[in-house]
Amino acid sequence: MPPNAPAAAPKDNREKLLERAMSRHQYSGDALIEVLHTAQELYGFLSPHLLTAIAHKLRLPPSRVLGVASFYHFFSLKPKGEHTFTVCLGTACYVAGALGLVERLEKRCCKAGTTTPDGKVSVETARCIGSCGLAPAVIYDGAVLARVTPEGLDRELERIGAK
Ligand code: FES
Repeated sequence: MPPNAPAAAPKDNREKLLERAMSRHQYSGDALIEVLHTAQELYGFLSPHLLTAIAHKLRLPPSRVLGVASFYHFFSLKPKGEHTFTVCLGTACYVAGALGLVERLEKRCCKAGTTTPDGKVSVETARCIGSCGLAPAVIYDGAVLARVTPEGLDRELERIGAK
């Protein structure tokens, strides 16, 4: 290798880490949710290819794996943006004004269920996230925000430089 050549890219060992997670559970179908969590942590989202590979390894029907992955709001079947806002639309949050939060995010960023073209922000909605006392609640990059207002969303969007 020439002296100034860039170092080789580190080998992508996500496949190995996922394999290790499945092996830890003896490739049991009962560990599907844990395995899907690990896969999402490693890859950011669950692609059809990944779901098929997991179904094969855990000896489960692909339809069951897809069913579980699409049932739970914390799994994503599409790549997400750098920042993700998940607005709870359960009853307590709805009554406390969650729809206004979705409208603000849709006006400023993109439709719920999508990501801005620059990949900066994803907007999601969910049914009750189990924090009704904090309504309206939003999961922002994995952390639950309490009593969120449209103005609070504006401030955060400005802070992260969302257009
Ligand atoms: S309804 Fe939103 S956290 Fe329960």
